[in-house]
Amino acid sequence: MSLGLVGVVVCGNFSRDDFPSGFSFGASSSAYQTEGAANEDGRTPSIWDTFTHAGYVKGATGDRASDGYHKYKLRIVDLQEDVQLMAETGLDAYRFTISWSRLIPNGRGPINPKGLQYYNNLINELISHGIQPHVALHHFDLPEILEDEYGGWVSRKIIKDFTEYANVCFREFGDRVKHWTTISEANAFSLSGYDWGVTPPRRCSYPYGNCSRGDSTTEAYIAAHHILLSHASAYRLYEKNYKDKQHGFVGITIIAHAFVPLTDSKEDEIATKRANEFFIGWFLHPLTFGDYLPLMKKSAGSKIPAFTVQESESVTGSLNFLGLNYYFAVNIKHIPRTLPPEKRDVKADIGIQLLATKNITSQFEYPITPWYLAEILEYVKQHYYNPLIYIYENGQKTRHNSTLEDWPRIEYLHAHIGTILDSIRNGSNVKGYFTWSFLDCFELIDGYESSYGLYYVDFDDPELRRQPKLSAYWYSHFLKRKGITMDI
Ligand SMILES: *[C@@H]1O[C@H](CO)[C@@H](O)[C@H](O)[C@H]1NC(C)=O
Ligand SMILES: *[C@@H]1O[C@H](CO)[C@@H](O)[C@H](O)[C@H]1NC(C)=O
Ligand SMILES: *[C@@H]1O[C@H](CO)[C@@H](O)[C@H](O)[C@H]1NC(C)=O
Ligand SMILES: *[C@@H]1O[C@H](CO)[C@@H](O)[C@H](O)[C@H]1NC(C)=O
Repeated sequence: MSLGLVGVVVCGNFSRDDFPSGFSFGASSSAYQTEGAANEDGRTPSIWDTFTHAGYVKGATGDRASDGYHKYKLRIVDLQEDVQLMAETGLDAYRFTISWSRLIPNGRGPINPKGLQYYNNLINELISHGIQPHVALHHFDLPEILEDEYGGWVSRKIIKDFTEYANVCFREFGDRVKHWTTISEANAFSLSGYDWGVTPPRRCSYPYGNCSRGDSTTEAYIAAHHILLSHASAYRLYEKNYKDKQHGFVGITIIAHAFVPLTDSKEDEIATKRANEFFIGWFLHPLTFGDYLPLMKKSAGSKIPAFTVQESESVTGSLNFLGLNYYFAVNIKHIPRTLPPEKRDVKADIGIQLLATKNITSQFEYPITPWYLAEILEYVKQHYYNPLIYIYENGQKTRHNSTLEDWPRIEYLHAHIGTILDSIRNGSNVKGYFTWSFLDCFELIDGYESSYGLYYVDFDDPELRRQPKLSAYWYSHFLKRKGITMDI
């Protein structure tokens, strides 16, 4: 690749050699957002297909998305395809997710040979280019058939089906895949899918959201509980049957927001502390200490499911690493807890309201606030025995149709990578950084209006051609130690 457009950019006083050896730099994607081929080769719908086809994402769907299903590999001589582009960019690693309903179309039972072949091909293509696959098993995309049959994550039946799905993945791919995430953004999936009802499976209740089914006062806790038990069950299975042979690692991913008090009142300040403790601790506390946060048990009372002694033992320590996603800051406002628990949703239990910051509402791109990521890493280090961390998603949103000279993305990546380096130097155990996203793709909230890719995808082009943005050149030069530095 040639630097062409960039000219000389100076400043920035770090390079990738400042990172510890073995640190992985990569980029991320997810199955529904990238693969397309939604109805091909035996794949059945996931809850995300149902959500988009009901029109909840501005009428857009991931039916075709970036067509990653067909375009992972070089087919036409002068058209570079995805894995080759990753290699040329200089990625050490690629985080993708497996579509459960492509691999096991009935949710349980027979494996779809075409699905199996696709993931084998993708993994082999990555390995042959020297790129480490990091794989997540669930990214907002439970097979719809399991949602219909028993309500998906709100039923304990999910534990058995998820564990068997994980078993298939470990067995079939674990000789080559060493980094497994069970669930992506477990906390966001629980809250936005079961309390606010704004993402699949769109369950919630009045007045907390507008859904046709669900119960915002309880279901997020129940879904989260079953996620924890399913995660732990998959972790224990790996430990028992695969770890000795495959030597891999199993973790779970949560999203962290930077919580900032809405006003400088004492109440908002304390509410912000609660928000932070809750958002990180909802999953990390049981995974570290075997039970829910005292804060949550006190505020939600009997609405929080209890772990049996055996479950608690299984959950405690079921984590080789924590995946952490971070994008932006959110304002927190204190809400007095006047309603009884049975009428409160999760935020009302915690006594908080989450509000988009003025920064976010006034500009399309995210404000660049990396110092909050440093605070979150410090918080996790101090409260949870400094776990090994992969940053699996972090990236800048721009309008999809805006220029290829995506300076806001370069500034964002530069600032966050620099901050992570500072945190590592201060003792945080971060082992990898993956930017969201490698390619422009279908976005959860905006469809195709916004994008985060290092590579632009022209969604009107029948070939869905990929074109590097300036950020792809920047990242590539950083990764290849070409000493690219920025004056920002
Ligand atoms: C609730 O959702 C329905 C169906 O999607 C929609 O027609 C209605 O306008 C929504 N109501 C509110 C108050 O948002
Ligand atoms: C808003 O953005 C500015 C500049 O990027 C930053 O200084 C400020 O702290 C941000 N505010 C919040 C609440 O993050
Ligand atoms: C991009 O899309 C936005 C919103 O649809 C529109 O306002 C803007 O004019 C478009 N810009 C270009 C360069 O087409
Ligand atoms: C660095 O780590 C120490 C020990 O955990 C902590 O007290 C200090 O606040 C950290 N510094 C920053 C800038 O986070």
